[in-house]
Amino acid sequence: MVVTGAASGIGEAIARECVERGFRLALADIEKARLEDLVNELNELSETDVIGKFVDVADSLSVLEFAENVQSEFGRVDLVVANAGVIATNKPLWEQKVEDLHWILGVNLVGVFNTWSSFLPHMIETGSGHLAATSSVAGLMPMIWGGNSPYAASKYGVVGLAEAVDQDLRNISSDIGITVLFPGPVRTRIREALRNRPEAYGGPMKETSYVPPIAAPDSWVTLEPTGVAKHFLQAIEAGERYVISNPEFLEPIVGHLSNVSKELQSSIIQEDS
Ligand code: NAI
Repeated sequence: MVVTGAASGIGEAIARECVERGFRLALADIEKARLEDLVNELNELSETDVIGKFVDVADSLSVLEFAENVQSEFGRVDLVVANAGVIATNKPLWEQKVEDLHWILGVNLVGVFNTWSSFLPHMIETGSGHLAATSSVAGLMPMIWGGNSPYAASKYGVVGLAEAVDQDLRNISSDIGITVLFPGPVRTRIREALRNRPEAYGGPMKETSYVPPIAAPDSWVTLEPTGVAKHFLQAIEAGERYVISNPEFLEPIVGHLSNVSKELQSSIIQEDS
C-alpha cells in the first residue's frame, strides 16, 4: 500500500498502523531525512518491506516516477492514500497571496489528482484496489474564524474530485472503492506546514501558520493521530465512502448541508399557474 505525506502526523500514524497489520508499504514525502528515519525504524520493527521515496505530490512527474517504482518493486498495489497536505497563514481572501493559493491547491488538490491518476491505470488493469484521500471538515463547511479560503477551496475540491472519479469507476463497472477522510483538529505538525513551502511560492517559513483568530469552541477535542489512523483504516476496510474522525463536527456539517439544500429549494422559480 501507498501513503503520501507519510513522514509526519496522520500519514505517519497510518504507516505505523499498516506495519502492525503486516502490509508492504511505500511511503512518499517531501521531507527526506524524516522519511528515511521512519522507513529505517519501520523496517527494523516489521518483517514486511517498507520503502520510502522523496516525492513532491504537486509535481506529476515526481508522482508518476514513484508509482512506476512501487509497481515494479511490489507488483501489486491494493491501497493508495493521498494524504499529503499543507496550510498557510490564516488571513482573509483580500490579504491572501496568489502564490499561497497555487501552493496549497498544488499539494492538497492537484496532489490527490496526481497520486490517484498515477496508480489508477494499474488498479484498473488488475481489476481491484482502493483509493483514499485526506480532506478536512473544512472541505464540508466554513470554519467560523474564516481566513482559510485557499485551504477550504482545496479540501472542497477533494470531495468533488472523489465524487467524479467514483462516477468514472462506476461507468466502467469497476470494483475500485474510494474513501475520503474528514478530520477535525488532530495533533500533528500541520500548523508548521510553511516549513515545506517551496522557493517558487515564497520559500519556507518557521512561523506557526494557521492560528485561528477566534478561540475554538470548548466542545472541540484535538485528537491524537494514532486513533484517527485506526478509524480511517477501519472505514477503508469496511468500504465506507466518507469518514469523519471528530464526532462533534457532524452536527454543524449536517446543519450546513441542510441549509444549502433549503436555499436551493427556495431558489426554484415557481411557474405561474
Ligand atoms: P503534518 O504536517 O504533520 O503532515 C503532513 C505531511 O505532508 C508532512 O510530512 C509533509 O512533509 C508532507 N508534505 C507536505 N507537502 C508535501 C508535498 N508537496 N509532497 C509530499 N509530501 C508533502 O500534517 P497532518 O495534519 O498530518 O496532515 C495530513 C493531512 O491531514 C493533510 O492533508 C491535512 O490537510 C489534513 N488535515 C489535518 C488536520 C489537523 O488538524 N492536523 C485537520 C484536517 C485535515
